[in-house]
Amino acid sequence: MIQEIKYKQVGKFEDTKFEKIHNEIFNDSNYASVLVAHEIAELIKQRQQEGRPCVLGLATGSSPIKVYEELVNLHKKGELSFYNVITFNLDEYYPMEPKNRQSYYYFMHQHLFDHVDINPENINIPSGEVPQEELDQYCIDYDLKIKQLGGLDFQLLGIGRTGHIGFNEPGSHKNSGTRIITLDHVTRRDAASDFNGIEYVPKKAITMGVSTIMKAKRIIMLAWGHKKASIVKETIEGQITSNIPATFLQNHDNTTMIMDNEAASELTRIKTPWIVSQCIWTDDLKVRAVTWLSEELQKPILKLTDKDYNEHGMAGLLTIEGSAYNLNIKIFNMVQHTITGWPGGKPNADDKNRPERANPAKKRVIIFSPHPDDDVISMGGTFSRLIEQGHEVHVAYQTSGNIAVTDEEALKFAEVAQLLDNGKEETNFSKIITFLQNKTTAYGDSIETRKIKGLIRRMESYGATRYLGLNDAKVHFLDLPFYETGEVKKNPVGENDIQIISDLIASIQPHQIYAAGDLADPHGTHKLCLDAIFETIERIKGQKFMEDCWVWLYRGAWHEWDIADIEMAVPLSPDEMNKKINAILFHQSQKDRVMFQGEDAREFWVRAQERNRNTALLYDNLGLAEYEAIEAFKRYHF
Ligand code: F6R
Repeated sequence: MIQEIKYKQVGKFEDTKFEKIHNEIFNDSNYASVLVAHEIAELIKQRQQEGRPCVLGLATGSSPIKVYEELVNLHKKGELSFYNVITFNLDEYYPMEPKNRQSYYYFMHQHLFDHVDINPENINIPSGEVPQEELDQYCIDYDLKIKQLGGLDFQLLGIGRTGHIGFNEPGSHKNSGTRIITLDHVTRRDAASDFNGIEYVPKKAITMGVSTIMKAKRIIMLAWGHKKASIVKETIEGQITSNIPATFLQNHDNTTMIMDNEAASELTRIKTPWIVSQCIWTDDLKVRAVTWLSEELQKPILKLTDKDYNEHGMAGLLTIEGSAYNLNIKIFNMVQHTITGWPGGKPNADDKNRPERANPAKKRVIIFSPHPDDDVISMGGTFSRLIEQGHEVHVAYQTSGNIAVTDEEALKFAEVAQLLDNGKEETNFSKIITFLQNKTTAYGDSIETRKIKGLIRRMESYGATRYLGLNDAKVHFLDLPFYETGEVKKNPVGENDIQIISDLIASIQPHQIYAAGDLADPHGTHKLCLDAIFETIERIKGQKFMEDCWVWLYRGAWHEWDIADIEMAVPLSPDEMNKKINAILFHQSQKDRVMFQGEDAREFWVRAQERNRNTALLYDNLGLAEYEAIEAFKRYHF
């Protein structure tokens, strides 16, 4: 059944008493995007019936991509025409030429306008080419045009990590109109990978103003992924402030925020629901509540008292469990049982309270790694244990990872290879060298260049897997086609991708699958790789061997599972931690100055070590044993 967006229900309810913007949370951002697209489509059709134009305010960025995809779908199926649609985009970088691939003009045509029957004259996108001296008038005219059309019927928004809407960065006034603005550093850093480095991200942009946006009759704001969680909480629960322009939406009476679970994860009613209302106390929620209280009060679980629970909204839980004493022991044991030195199951042991099954004692295992290095960064210690404990371990690198190799690195290898080849002119190496020496844009590598970049990563992976004692025959390079665009933006996952994964799983018939459960970026490679695995599993789950297959999710370099989500915790000794670091260091092209560093300037091995140590510290602080480091996994039930 389609879950409708209940946008009329704006208000403050019992279980949302901290919330000041109506919002809806979905398990699946793709599904939520389809619903948003349908709301827009209904509005367009309603206006058509009334013989009126439909004025839409549109956003760019990663958040609305699936909404546009569905609008295009509806059009292609013949269910929606855009003949009466007039659009106004929120913003454009300044200066910026429309033909530039990073322009919002390019984005909108690529994702929507080129595929629907909108009249080109009805498309309005701020121009990044207006001469400086004409900008003020240009912006006034942009607002005026919207006003003369009767205002925006609908405005689609994303939210930046600064809390910007459009490019109304912190400090924007609620009465601001369309204008030129200086981009915040965080915003530029977030755009850095699109521009191949923050130094190439424009410093300015033209943006629709806060007041222009607020006059829209209906607003939907989208927020996907963990990296939006803290700004979403501040926007929905915080005070209205120009430091977080999205908070102005609290004063708009027809706004809905549409989020996935990750973006909503910091909301009070999600993170600590017992503070907000009566809860249904499942075991999961009990673990969440008790570990939260222990962290909050910095007290080991076994020292929490009745008073501690009562003072933090958990009196109801105590009533169910009898006393803090009973509850503490119960939860302590549950957390304790997640710890195992036997990630493939402990042979000949009672496995009632262990995360993995004892049988079969020797398991077939596939570790899926989105890029050639996530395996060792995220689960190098567990990987090594599985091999040492005699399981048949396979690793499958889902993508070639070629775009993350710098030109300098590729040139070095091509030059070495050409010299070894006695400098023959006609070789592929000389072609690569000539190509790289003449390359002027960030992307668009030749096929040979992409190939050498991919091979560099392949050979680094062999370095790491051989070091861990894995036979080359157990290393699989899937080179999934969706990734091979030669640029940051990937194709959607397709049938070929699914087939390749499905063939591998069918040939190995694994008892365990490990996959990267990273949801930080909904359009990032990790999420697409995970989607591809889930889709494959969905299709093959009826096969007999899948009855014995358990799927474990690990998290990538950036953040770990919440303690209450962890279902298997594999401790590492100091020596094992060092071994893991050595394995990561084989990935030389991803060391020092890497192309996709993210916000954290530290090297991958440093982050991995710190993250695994922090997980161990969390267990320690809960009053469990003190380990050097821990790798954590959550089971995926299909
Ligand atoms: C884009 C825009 C921005 C984005 C915001 C979120 O037109 O105005 O406010 O909506 O930066 O970007 P994504 O969706 O890429 O996270």
